[in-house]
Amino acid sequence: MAYNFRDHYFQRAKKENYLARAIYKLEEIQKKHRVLRSGDRVLDLGAAPGSWMQLTSGVVGPSGLVVGVDLKKIEHVFPRHVVVLQRDIFDPEFEEDMVREYAPFDVVLSDMAPSTCGIKAADSARSELLFERAIQLAEQLLKPQGHFLAKIFQGSDFHNLLAETKKRFEWVKVVKPEASKKQSKEIYVLAMRFKKP
Ligand SMILES: C[S@@+](CC[C@H](N)C(=O)[O-])C[C@H]1O[C@@H](n2cnc3c(N)ncnc32)[C@H](O)[C@@H]1O
Repeated sequence: MAYNFRDHYFQRAKKENYLARAIYKLEEIQKKHRVLRSGDRVLDLGAAPGSWMQLTSGVVGPSGLVVGVDLKKIEHVFPRHVVVLQRDIFDPEFEEDMVREYAPFDVVLSDMAPSTCGIKAADSARSELLFERAIQLAEQLLKPQGHFLAKIFQGSDFHNLLAETKKRFEWVKVVKPEASKKQSKEIYVLAMRFKKP
């Protein structure tokens, strides 16, 4: 059953020329909540192989900007309003470089996932660190009223992180898209309308 489920989204992505099945998670969230709009400047953290950038670059169009960042090299060739960077988001100079070259953003996305070891508590702790860093970056790089969407594997720190997110945004919702495996601890936190201090 789990195999068929994976296979369905995988095959669909292949047929529709998308780089990963992950696109259907963002597509569902976008349809329901209109996180992205034409002309937006978007930062996509953990962007490889690039399916979220395929969707995002289409929605924002050439008057917008998409900056995709990943540890891995992104091979796909995108339109000119997409910038692809091979970087570690924990690099101490990363935030400064974003401020200098691309900020402020209307939307910060993070589909970042750690390389998992199979021990659930360790995997969720690593995912929570990525989420925490993503929200720190969003705080520095978002425009007032900007939006944040980030993946997290729910672990022991999840409720603290959710509470911290709620302090910073006017509206926050935990989302589990259809394309996300039911048995996985992966969920997305959608936070809209950043309350810039
Ligand atoms: C599930 S994939 C993202 C899929 C992507 N949204 C897409 O649609 O193609 C998660 C990515 O997070 C990246 N990642 C994990 N830790 C990172 C870090 N510290 N800095 C940048 N990227 C990171 C991984 O390299 C991996 O490519």
